[in-house]
Amino acid sequence: DTQALVDLVTSRLRDIPDFPEPGVVFKDVTPLLADGEAFSAVVRDMAERRRGTVDLVAGIEARGFIFGAAVAHELGIGFVPVRKAGKLPGRTRGVSYDLEYGSATIEIHEDSFVGGERVLVVDDVLATGGTAAATCELLEGSNATVVAFEALIELAFLHGRDRLPGRDVHTTIVVG
Ligand code: PRP
Repeated sequence: DTQALVDLVTSRLRDIPDFPEPGVVFKDVTPLLADGEAFSAVVRDMAERRRGTVDLVAGIEARGFIFGAAVAHELGIGFVPVRKAGKLPGRTRGVSYDLEYGSATIEIHEDSFVGGERVLVVDDVLATGGTAAATCELLEGSNATVVAFEALIELAFLHGRDRLPGRDVHTTIVVG
């Protein structure tokens, strides 16, 4: 059930203080990934919630690739990588967004969608929501339809959901 999954996930996450910078507590998912039962349970839960409603999964670099590709495989559908600038080999389309300090750019291949595909966006963490919001903007600017967003961890104190108004957002565990 839901509480059992929350307990399992919580037991397989590790807090790393002062990473990537002082004062930040990083939620490390590597213990969960290393546990086949926990990793599989998370992926199956995300996949079953969306089965039959999506045509493609888009995963956000880097940990969103791991969960997103597994969800796509579980559903037997394709996967589109949303990458940091300069990583994709073909012609790209990008969007820049503000970080706490500075900015970031994410890209997809410009021919990722023919138009009208229903896309599930997957990432490991929903923090400020900037990355997720930028991804939705990028995909919808490329004629895809973002039907839902799934993340393993939601850092509620950063109010990322506020950046995704009207969207179907589900997170496996909520912290803070
Ligand atoms: C993390 C995380 C999300 C994003 C969430 O990625 O994996 O993609 O930040 O933050 P936000 O909601 O405030 O936008 P990170 O920048 O650490 O990149 P990485 O996965 O390549 O290490």
